[in-house]
Amino acid sequence: MPDPIEILQKYAKPVPRYTSYPTAPHFQQGLGEAILPDMIASAANGGRISAYMHIPFCDRLCWFCACHTKQTQRYDPVSAYVGSLINEIGLYRERLSARPALAHLHLGGGSPSLLRQDDFVRIAEALESAFLIDGDTEISIEIDPNDHREDLLAGMKRLGVTRASIGVQDFDPAVQEAINRPQSFEQTRDLLLAVRSLGIASVNIDALYGLPLQTMERLENTIAGVISLSPERVALFGYAHVPWMKKHQTLIREGDLPGPMERFRQAQRAEALLVEAGYIKIGIDHFARADDGLALAAQAGTLGRNFQGYTTDRCETMIPLGASAIGRSPAGYVQNLVPTGQYRTSVDNGKLAAAKGYRFTPDDLLRAHAIERLMCDFEFRFEPIRQRFGSLGHHLVEEAMAIARNDEDGLCETDGEAFRIPLSARPFARIVASWFDAHMRQSAFQYSKAV
Ligand SMILES: C[S@@+](CC[C@H](N)C(=O)[O-])C[C@H]1O[C@@H](n2cnc3c(N)ncnc32)[C@H](O)[C@@H]1O
Ligand code: SF4
Repeated sequence: MPDPIEILQKYAKPVPRYTSYPTAPHFQQGLGEAILPDMIASAANGGRISAYMHIPFCDRLCWFCACHTKQTQRYDPVSAYVGSLINEIGLYRERLSARPALAHLHLGGGSPSLLRQDDFVRIAEALESAFLIDGDTEISIEIDPNDHREDLLAGMKRLGVTRASIGVQDFDPAVQEAINRPQSFEQTRDLLLAVRSLGIASVNIDALYGLPLQTMERLENTIAGVISLSPERVALFGYAHVPWMKKHQTLIREGDLPGPMERFRQAQRAEALLVEAGYIKIGIDHFARADDGLALAAQAGTLGRNFQGYTTDRCETMIPLGASAIGRSPAGYVQNLVPTGQYRTSVDNGKLAAAKGYRFTPDDLLRAHAIERLMCDFEFRFEPIRQRFGSLGHHLVEEAMAIARNDEDGLCETDGEAFRIPLSARPFARIVASWFDAHMRQSAFQYSKAV
């Protein structure tokens, strides 16, 4: 069993969460535009595709937030932005002759829950004109309970939302004050009941550990509250304190933050409570009921990882919609312009907003496969890698064997057939995954803490 204190000291260097490989800091300016034709071609090849739509607005700004968003008290900028989204969808419609069938659509942010009903209608109509949306399309949305309104529920119904993700973070008033996110348990419960009354059978709750002023007792109470709401899924993230990237995080007093060992204990305790309550642990930070699609995919070895976290979505192509949204094709990643104004100017003038991007090399595809399997299954098997990637695959297997031989901390092992992260070392999966990250070795970018 690795000693957590030693491991946390030895590997104090921050590592990525590997929601992609290579990770976003390695995307290159201008390459998005170069990948775009490949992405459109793969979207048009007859298979089902996915889409991600980003809404970069919130009516409040939580100090812990690391998402790409902007606070707005007025609705005009939001409805103007929806106009640009509709223009962007129209540009895809022109470029995709037959409507590709949409398998998954995720609305993230920011807070897509601040959209008004008529904007949901406009978005739904635009999407339906460009893509085939049918009974098998999964549509998920992130909801801030603060935005709970009748008109939101009507909008979600029109769009055909099948899955809702509700932000909780922590229920304790002192912690909430330290992160500027007041939100009562009752407010969250009422939203959840309203979401269920729409017939939405799958609900996720986001909770955080490592927050300012979060004690073990406060975290335990929060997790007990989450469990009492019986969501199908729970995402338990460690608070990523990155004030050099997110200026408003400087409003959080660093002296109020739990230290690395306390964070580790909090993660372990929250996990134990969720597992005791019957949730199955999925990958490094998700939990799901045993009959939930995520748990079934984990069991079947078909779980995937993308920018939204763990997913059952295995589509090769994802279309990015909105400022900063990231899409994917077999050729590489495409990221839309991040500044909202620049994104709007581009799509309003008839030009898709692809800016940064990344073109995969064969080595990237190999390492992306190994890292995704480690993050999802905590192992990768050698034979499929040799078969699929030929001599490159053989080299990676040798590399994995050498890594396992040189590991003095019990973080990984191999039996000659697979490379594995043992159960006791799973909290350190990001560290082990980073050993296969060829880009990380040359990177100066600073990520968040590994645990
Ligand atoms: C876009 S927000 C969720 C939707 C909605 N805006 C809300 O706050 O309820 C996505 C999630 O990212 C997570 N998150 C945001 N900032 C984070 C940070 N600094 N570290 C870890 N998780 C973070 C939170 O759990 C949050 O619920
Ligand atoms: S956590 Fe959610 S509501 Fe708070 S600022 Fe971030 S995106 Fe907005």
